[in-house]
Amino acid sequence: MAKINSNYDKLSAGYLFPEISRRVKVYSEKNPGIEILRLGVGNTTEALPSEIIKGLHASVDKLSNVKTYTGYGDEQGNKNLREAIVSYYKDLGAEILPDEVFVSDGAKCDVANIQSIFSNECKVAVQDPAYPVYVDTNVIAGRTGKNTGVTYDGLVYMGCNLENNFFPSLPTEKVDLIYICSPNNPTGAVATREQLKEFVDYAIKNKSVIIFDAAYNEFISDSTLPKTIYVIPGAKECAIEINSFSKSAGFTGVRLGWSIVPKNCVCEDASIGKLNSMWNRRQTTMFNGASNIVQDGGVAALSKEGLKECKEIIEYYMENSRIIKKGLEEKGLKVVSGGVNAPYLWVKTPNGMKSWDLFDKMLTEAHVVITPGSGFGPSGEGYFRVSAFGHRENVIKAVESIKNNLKL
Ligand code: MLT
Repeated sequence: MAKINSNYDKLSAGYLFPEISRRVKVYSEKNPGIEILRLGVGNTTEALPSEIIKGLHASVDKLSNVKTYTGYGDEQGNKNLREAIVSYYKDLGAEILPDEVFVSDGAKCDVANIQSIFSNECKVAVQDPAYPVYVDTNVIAGRTGKNTGVTYDGLVYMGCNLENNFFPSLPTEKVDLIYICSPNNPTGAVATREQLKEFVDYAIKNKSVIIFDAAYNEFISDSTLPKTIYVIPGAKECAIEINSFSKSAGFTGVRLGWSIVPKNCVCEDASIGKLNSMWNRRQTTMFNGASNIVQDGGVAALSKEGLKECKEIIEYYMENSRIIKKGLEEKGLKVVSGGVNAPYLWVKTPNGMKSWDLFDKMLTEAHVVITPGSGFGPSGEGYFRVSAFGHRENVIKAVESIKNNLKL
């Protein structure tokens, strides 16, 4: 008799972003002809830079010739891309070995799958608010108790709020897996070296592992802020880092990411090399490598010219961010975090409104889609997130519409 994984029944009804799309669809169907302005999902909009396009085209051409055709590649990623990632880290000041790099078809899968190499007994701590994948995948794996409607029993929520500048204090109890995202999705807060050092020291002392999501690191322009956890002494002993080409190179639809599982990364019952070889086993068993065309696009993105062109697009989104911040503040809304060194703005809802009520109000009055803060966890209630990834014309329209049509 087959039985389902009943942990799925603990999850909140729908994943956050499809739920937003559902509500927008219902509204659009009832109000045909109304233009919806989207500042919700962090979905890139600008065309890929020419260097990447060249890399992708050249790769397609290689497939048309029997002499240059390639089939399956290494599950861990093609050698030239792994080497390009190693040299990217070198430029950031971190030493990574090629066989510590695992290329994937995007950070979301890695963020979701990485927990599978750890015991179900691990106690999990997340920043609150947090990217929902960290929580939902641990719920599915059975590391939590029941859903109270606001929180999951057994999960440690590390509150991020105005008082701590949206970066949490260390957990007061012993935890085993710690998810940290910096620049943070959704708050846009960026951890300092000192803040990360505290977590690294905690992890080493408690034999915990930090899962560090660096998907937005290229948005950091302040050179004092760390773009990788591996510039923190000791981090290679306790941290797995996950990154993506989605936001930095516009690969949201193209799909490419990577994980770094250092050989020296250990935990309670894993000595040197064990976690690295477990992730290798997991990937070689369950994944056949990212598309060879896309990997060549990734190599182009990490070339000198590629990085320069990607930076220009990042600057474009950051200008959107400044436009949004200025507009929201002129409207009298409080941008409490983000928008600098990060493509998300974290905003207080006016008059103590609930996040989803504000979502509905934004949609019906200004026809603008935002992301309700409560969708990211209990500490997100009373906030909303605005994405700067729009096309400029739409961003300006959305800001104007909020200024003119939202009734505060
Ligand atoms: C977001 O809007 O939070 C992201 O685009 C979602 C993702 O990267 O999966």
